[in-house]
Amino acid sequence: MVEATLAIIKPDAIKAKNAGKIIDRIEKEGFEIIAIKKLHLTKNQAEAFYAIHKGKPFFNELVEFMTSGPIIVMALKKENAIKEWRDLMGATNPAEAAENTIRKLYGTNKGINATHGSDAPETAKVEIDFFFPDLQK
Ligand code: CMP
Repeated sequence: MVEATLAIIKPDAIKAKNAGKIIDRIEKEGFEIIAIKKLHLTKNQAEAFYAIHKGKPFFNELVEFMTSGPIIVMALKKENAIKEWRDLMGATNPAEAAENTIRKLYGTNKGINATHGSDAPETAKVEIDFFFPDLQK
């Protein structure tokens, strides 16, 4: 099924100038970028986006990191886009990610890991709406 997912290039990858390489890889792997923008999340926005993780021990660290610099958010379209993008990113912890995945290539640790991707169809819809409210109407 052709579906959409939300991808984020996180502040570490932007700072390290890896954004272009990641976008190139996304296109080479056959995703269509249906929306894209660069922005700097406020604390309130980051807390809202990651509300599902509120109360977890890494929540404050996550919000601090995600507001530490600009991010690039994209809505990606492909057959099985949600799984395909998660496979291309690799495991959350770059040390456990498969060779040649984005997190293996560009991630640093479990928190500082270059990219984010939606984990299910319901979250993809909510996350795309969060950044691109006009896209799915
Ligand atoms: P992401 O896909 O953006 O969604 C939630 C994020 O929480 C996840 O990527 C990780 O980068 C981050 N995360 C998960 N576990 C930890 C942890 N133990 N320490 C710091 N960050 C974490």
